[in-house]
Formats: sequence, C-alpha cells, structure tokens
Amino acid sequence: MLLGSGELGKEVIIALQRLGVEVIAVDRYENAPGHQVAHRAHVINMTDGAALAALIEKEQPDLVVPEIEAIATETLVKLEEAGKARVIPTARAAWLTMNREGIRRLAGETLGLATSPYRFADSLEELKAAVQQIGFPCVIKPVMSSSGKGQSKVDGPDEIEAAWNYAAAGGRVDAGRVIVEGFIDFDYEITLLTVRSLNENGDTVTSFCDPIGHVQVKGDYVESWQPHPMPAAALDKARDIARKVTDNLGGLGLFGVELFVKGDMVWFSEVSPRPHDTGMVTMVSQVQSEFELHAKAILGLPVNTALKTPGASAVIYGQHDARAIAFEGVADALRIPGADIRLFGKPESFQRRRMGVALACGENIESARIRAKQAAAKVKPVIPE
Ligand SMILES: Nc1ncnc2c1ncn2[C@@H]1O[C@H](COP(=O)(O)OP(=O)(O)OP(=O)(O)O)[C@@H](O)[C@H]1O
Ligand SMILES: [Mg+2]
Repeated sequence: MLLGSGELGKEVIIALQRLGVEVIAVDRYENAPGHQVAHRAHVINMTDGAALAALIEKEQPDLVVPEIEAIATETLVKLEEAGKARVIPTARAAWLTMNREGIRRLAGETLGLATSPYRFADSLEELKAAVQQIGFPCVIKPVMSSSGKGQSKVDGPDEIEAAWNYAAAGGRVDAGRVIVEGFIDFDYEITLLTVRSLNENGDTVTSFCDPIGHVQVKGDYVESWQPHPMPAAALDKARDIARKVTDNLGGLGLFGVELFVKGDMVWFSEVSPRPHDTGMVTMVSQVQSEFELHAKAILGLPVNTALKTPGASAVIYGQHDARAIAFEGVADALRIPGADIRLFGKPESFQRRRMGVALACGENIESARIRAKQAAAKVKPVIPE
C-alpha cells in the first residue's frame, strides 16, 4: 500500500507491478498519478490517523510504503508496534523525517554529524532571539513542510516578521513552530541516493548511487543531473554521513540524503526515507532507476546502483491554473537527441505545480543538462479549447 501516489509513487508502483506485486494506491485526491497504474485506489486524508488505521485494517497490506511526508506517522508507529503493519523503511523513519526537528536533532545531536547551526522557535519573540544567536543570513522554515513551502532566507532584522508570517502560512500542521538555520554558502548541493537491501546471506547492506547535483529555486527543484563530480575526500564524507543516518533509520529501501558541499567540507541537510524528486534523473542515467531500486530493496531483492550514462532532468511546470490541461510540443521535445519526457497525468494544474519532467542522456553532464532543458522548454502546457 502506497501512502501518497504522486509522480514518485507512480513510478514506484510501476516498478512493483513489473515484479507482479499487487499494489494499492492511496492519495488525498481522486485520479492521482499513482491511482492510474495501481490495482486499487483509495482517497483518504492521510493525516487523519483514524482513517489511515481503518484503511490499513481493511486492506491488510503486507507492506505500507509512505511516499510523502504528510501522513499520520504516529499512527504508523502504533500499528507497527502492534504488529499490524510493516512500514517502509520503518515507522520511526517516517515519523522522524516528517518533522525537521526530529531528523535534525538525530543528525546534529545524537549522531554528531555536521549540519548548519540551528534553533527552534514557537513565537515571533522566540524567533527574534533565535535569529540573534544564529546570525545573518539565515533560513527560516516551518518544522513541517516540503518543497520549500513557507521557507525564506533572511538577511536582516527587518525581514524576520515577514518570514514568521510566511512560515505560519506555508507549514503543514502545527503552524506555530519554525527552525532557523544558519545559511551555508555551499559550492553545490547533492542528493546521495543510498540503498539498504539484503545480500545473499540475508544481511542488510548499504550501497550508494553516484551523486546527483541539482538546482533549487525557492526551495523547489528545477533541474538535476548525475553524476555530479566531487573530490574523493568530500565523497567519502558524504557517504559516511549517509551511512550513519540510514543505519540509524534502519529498515530496507532507498533514501535521498541531501547534502551541502564546499571544497572538502560536507554538511547534512535532510533525508527522505523514499525516492527523491531530484532522483527522477535516474530513469535515464542508471541501470536501475531509484524507483526500481526502492521496489527491489523493500521486497528483499538484490539491487544494482550502477550508473549507465551521464543524464539530466528538467521540470515541466503547469503554467496555468486549470483542470485537464494538454501539452503541445511533445514531439519537438522528443526530437532532441537523447531526450525523453514523463507527463504525470495530474488532473489539475497550477502555475507552479510539477506536471512533468524532461530527461536526457549525454556524453557528459553539460550536454545532458542542455538537452533536458531544451526538451522541457519545448513542452507547452495549454488549456484545451
Ligand atoms: N541552511 C541552508 N543554507 C543554505 N541553503 C539552504 C539551507 N537550507 C535550505 N537551503 C536551500 O533550500 C533548499 C530547500 O531546503 P530544504 O531541503 O530544507 O526544504 P524542503 O522544503 O524540505 O525541500 P524539499 O522537500 O524539496 O527537499 C535546499 O535544497 C537548499 O538549496
Ligand atoms: Mg530538501
């Protein structure tokens, strides 16, 4: 049972279907991308613990696979403790990572990993005091949000109140709590896809994909590529951090470990205990995509994290607020050498909603990036007459 059936969930479902697995897709709205490719679909509010428990009780899935953060993860913890659900990778991992405070305290305090300096605040007054300790520039984020929602970079004291109000409006639940992070002036940021799978002796082993570089605009990914070149010392540190975090979270499956890099220095930022949006590039660049790796790992099957070719992805946004949009220029996009596209089939478009992605391979990451961006630019979302 997939909890969350967006574009990432849809690809995990397709990978599971290819292995003959019966899949139940759950999302908060009808005809979500993953609903369209599953055996059965359900629409519930996944942050409603009672509704979630009732659905799991009714369907009795062998595996519960959270695909988004906004889930009643405390309910999953209770169900797992009671032996009523096996949650991927673990209920605790889903619970800790849905809240920035949980994962940040684990990484920074329990595991002693390098992170940006941080403080938490529950009111504007506390926030002002916290910012004073962290200094400028800093980044203010709701403790529960994703895709950059409610997040601002703050350069001076007169911007704090606006950042507080923006965080309160953009947070998912518990609107009153924020994290303040010192701004890291990184050279680049990467996603290190890390897989925990079983070997032939039944032991859990960790493997790493090549680093994925990406560009974020307003906290939302617009472009990614693989492999991102890194000095050996930084790559060793990145893998060490990813191993420590994923060992602690436990279970089986793929994780997206987000890291900031400057020279040989590496900071842990956050981790998704599931496929990562920047990892869509692996549909073209790896022998097995991140979705296939996740599907195989959670089933206890062996995985292959090898790179196939340099590749890139570029996001296609809706550009309209409308239901049932169409796309022009798809053929032109596909005429670009090495390019391919995925359109997610979302029933409703918003201007900044991710509706598709262009993928491209190339001789090197530069050529792949150019092709992916060209292909994305050819695809024009339109409102049908
Ligand atoms: N402390 C920081 N210093 C510098 N840049 C930062 C910092 N925190 C966040 N950013 C930038 O903002 C982006 C989004 O931040 P973050 O990953 O914490 O937000 P998010 O809402 O969880 O995003 P997503 O769900 O898309 O991963 C980062 O990838 C990075 O580019
Ligand atoms: Mg992030």
